[in-house]
Amino acid sequence: MTANELRKKYIDFFVSKNHVEIVGKSLIPENDPTVLFTTAGMHPLVPYLLGQEHPSGSRLTDYQKCIRTGDIDAVGDPSHLTFFEMLGNWSLGDYFKEEAIKMSFEFLTSPKWLGFPLDRLSVTVFAGDEVAPRDEESAAVWTSLGLPRERIHFLPKEDNWWGPAGETGPCGPDTEMFIDTGKEPCSDKCAPGACSCGKYFEVWNDVFMQYNMQKDGTYLPLERKCVDTGMGIERTIAMIQGKKSVYETEVFTPIIAKIQEISGKNYGDDEVLDKSIRIIADHTRTSVFILGDERGVSPSNVGQGYILRRLLRRAIRHGRILGIEGAFLNQLADIVLEMYKEPYPIILSNKDFIFAEIAKEEEKFRSTLQKGLHEFEKKLEGLMRNPKKIIPGRIAFNLYDTYGFPLEITEELAAENGMTVDKEGFDEAFKKHQEASKKGSDKVFKGGLADNSEMTTALHTATHLLHKALRMVLGEHVQQKGSNITAERLRFDFAHPDKMSAEQLAEVEAIVNQQIARELDVVEEVMTLDEATAAGALAFFGEKYESKVKVYSVGDFSKEVCGGPHVANTRDMGKFKIQKEQSSSAGVRRIKAVLVK
Ligand code: ALA
Repeated sequence: MTANELRKKYIDFFVSKNHVEIVGKSLIPENDPTVLFTTAGMHPLVPYLLGQEHPSGSRLTDYQKCIRTGDIDAVGDPSHLTFFEMLGNWSLGDYFKEEAIKMSFEFLTSPKWLGFPLDRLSVTVFAGDEVAPRDEESAAVWTSLGLPRERIHFLPKEDNWWGPAGETGPCGPDTEMFIDTGKEPCSDKCAPGACSCGKYFEVWNDVFMQYNMQKDGTYLPLERKCVDTGMGIERTIAMIQGKKSVYETEVFTPIIAKIQEISGKNYGDDEVLDKSIRIIADHTRTSVFILGDERGVSPSNVGQGYILRRLLRRAIRHGRILGIEGAFLNQLADIVLEMYKEPYPIILSNKDFIFAEIAKEEEKFRSTLQKGLHEFEKKLEGLMRNPKKIIPGRIAFNLYDTYGFPLEITEELAAENGMTVDKEGFDEAFKKHQEASKKGSDKVFKGGLADNSEMTTALHTATHLLHKALRMVLGEHVQQKGSNITAERLRFDFAHPDKMSAEQLAEVEAIVNQQIARELDVVEEVMTLDEATAAGALAFFGEKYESKVKVYSVGDFSKEVCGGPHVANTRDMGKFKIQKEQSSSAGVRRIKAVLVK
């Protein structure tokens, strides 16, 4: 079974259990300024897990692209990935533990679905603590399904508790499902969850959402109990196909074959080179998805753009380890695009942007990589004599500042030479530099997003007003191509061939401000996409929608299909000000604007 087939099977199974298929969302969370990327299938569903009604009902299923960069250093081992796809099913106050576990069991073991033999399955459940009791209830359901008690493991919060996805939000105890690869146990302590030797592969997690974690770390009960589940596509197909690693499955083998062809190195011949091959394959795949996202970003020194830059640069450096001298990433990007164009058509519509940005970043880094490596080697000789084998922070910072080496590249170079980097020293040097340049680039580490959801919401509504005003002034050909909102400003990309004149900008700005001044109510309705289109609602070009959608109307002025949230009334939004109008890519203009209170 391939990834494409698994995606379809999973959705079919849950649709047969009365779930409605919804569409996965952008990799960049719209409503959660506390994290850079969507880290799980439940992330875009947080408002619904917290109590809002979902337009598609109380049983939902989908596939969602996810990124986790917390353990970027672990990438390269056989199971860690920065980008992965998660299949999910949700109960919003509908079924709970028993039905969720029974459905997971059926999908995993029934010959009609995945057909894993029962003796390859083991599970973990929550051992209990002061917040929630030991989960005997889930254990009893597993036992009733025929799972022997010795393959039900009780583990503490570090292992069997999930969430929140950001800093606050829905969370609860979970039960995780593992497939035995058949490998010999690594020790007598080898067990699911407790050991990461690779014998047991976690494929699925059912979370029983019962709490809403607050900023101060306390837990409030959720309005209604929910179920959130996540099955990792890459891991599951590796198990179905009898592979030991996700990198041996068809979502990676064509990329790896291309790397072999370009580098002349063979995957499987040398452990060090294998790791480089895996890093390149993983990082290129992730970069294509970040660039090609509905809310795609370019490499930069802040937020998501900085993660993207680090991924691309690390891939380029590992290409060099394989002996690749010229630009090569776009040959791999092309394979990723081909592979995922059906489940994720958005990346294909952003193809030109993806290629152009990768080419630019590769050229930029290549020109300094060689010099930086030379500089590192020069310094190394002296540093090796230092008995502590620590690279001072100022040297790491110099490599960052002058040669564009993200810290982890210097750390890797250090490790390859039996050394470590003084990270604190690096941070200090960074801070000093930042104070000196007063650029406020501390956002590099925080992601450039402040938690200010009220402003973000108001800017979101302003985007709708702007969209409509642009269509009035420039014409109906104006179509939204992307948007990105932080607590400070909005960014809106739209199809239009020419630079806007000062008069046009002033007119658009005036229209938006007139509408804000009308103190318009913002009304949310749920309808089918056809009804929405018939009612004249604008939809985001290139986006896929589910059968029922939310439509937001700002008075009688604008009507758009959108997930929200929006202000209830335009009063108090402040004054709309366009700061910049520029080209984004061929035929696409970009406006940056703020609301001034
Ligand atoms: N949200 C859960 C996870 O990511 C299902 O594991």
